[in-house]
Amino acid sequence: MKKILITGGAGFIGSHVVRRFVLHHPEYHIYNLDALTYAGNLENLRDVENAPNYTFVKGDIVDASFIDSLISENDFHGIIHLAAESHVDRSISDPMSFVMTNVVGTVNLLNAAKKAWAGDMAGRRFYHVSTDEVYGELHDPGTFFLETTKYDPRSPYSASKASSDHFVRAYHNTYKLPVVISNCSNNYGPNHFPEKLIPLMIHNILNNKPLPVYGKGENIRDWLFVEDHARAIDVIFHKGVNGDTYNIGGHNEWTNIDLVKLLCGLMDKKLGRAEGESAALITYVTDRAGHDLRYAIDATKLSEELGWKPSLQFEEGLERTVDWYLNNKEWLHNVTSGEYKGYYDSMYVNR
Ligand code: NAD
Ligand code: TYD
Repeated sequence: MKKILITGGAGFIGSHVVRRFVLHHPEYHIYNLDALTYAGNLENLRDVENAPNYTFVKGDIVDASFIDSLISENDFHGIIHLAAESHVDRSISDPMSFVMTNVVGTVNLLNAAKKAWAGDMAGRRFYHVSTDEVYGELHDPGTFFLETTKYDPRSPYSASKASSDHFVRAYHNTYKLPVVISNCSNNYGPNHFPEKLIPLMIHNILNNKPLPVYGKGENIRDWLFVEDHARAIDVIFHKGVNGDTYNIGGHNEWTNIDLVKLLCGLMDKKLGRAEGESAALITYVTDRAGHDLRYAIDATKLSEELGWKPSLQFEEGLERTVDWYLNNKEWLHNVTSGEYKGYYDSMYVNR
């Protein structure tokens, strides 16, 4: 049975990727490597944890000798790398942890794969999961990020992801490591840690807390349902061209304020509240430093070359997401209390 290593599989997107590969690919044994930081949670994978083709490995990608042993002792057919520090606000207050995990951690994985796969690269694949934020920000409506758009990272988070992308391409060029990269827009869906916009707003609406909208709420993001991203990763892992990059996006742009109002209306209905009750919680707060104005992806290459398209309309995806949080209040409570509480509260200090 071919072994696939997925890093960061206990996190938001990683858990959906692990589930998809465990359930859709019984021909693989999936190894989920995760350090279980504040963002990683094995609760996200309860439904597949006893599957015969699944193994969890706790470990840190920053630990070079551990990574080297893991990859040299297991004959991994592929590596799908998602482990990262992923929150822009945290990167503003603590850039170095982003350098360590996102840059050093990625290079540790590349070095280990290069060594273990030397002389036997055929059929192997190192898949690096990246973000559209490496392209910087857009201003003009009707302009989009293409795979050829020049990198222009503007936050410590996007700078660390851009740096890791460059290392992945450099290992392909220099050592012929078989790599593929995708750059995706903002994801939403179940198991999203409630420090990011959509789950934070759901959490605060539920708890009647202020809904902090940065600046004037005019920044624009392109939202994609997380299961569509996991399906794109599956397609690119199997059909993508070595050395290529694929943009993934939802063609679904929303200003933050319109999105928060849509969510408020949806939650009013679900919670039996009067219309406008949740929106009254909206509070404009100091803007994020260096806040990127607009992200929008052109995913034509992925749809034309590999046949992937988003499957869900936003309203449907958002309703599924809200329903998941309403049915999993215990998950929400657990990740914002107990051992996670310090991490959770710390982000408020950053505002
Ligand atoms: P997340 O923060 O929810 O999860 C990250 C996971 O990585 C967690 O399980 C955490 O425990 C693990 N991790 C962190 N540091 C680690 C380390 N040193 N060693 C091992 N494991 C470690 O992140 P996410 O939102 O699921 O993002 C996953 C990947 O997708 C990231 O690479 C991110 O840059 C990329 N991405 C995210 C989005 C988005 O909208 N969330 C969009 C495009 C790309
Ligand atoms: P976020 O979910 O952090 O993703 P990213 O910054 O990687 O796009 O934020 C999405 C947008 O929402 C971004 O423009 C910042 C804004 N935002 C708020 O207005 N309030 C908040 O509390 C958060 C977390 C984000």
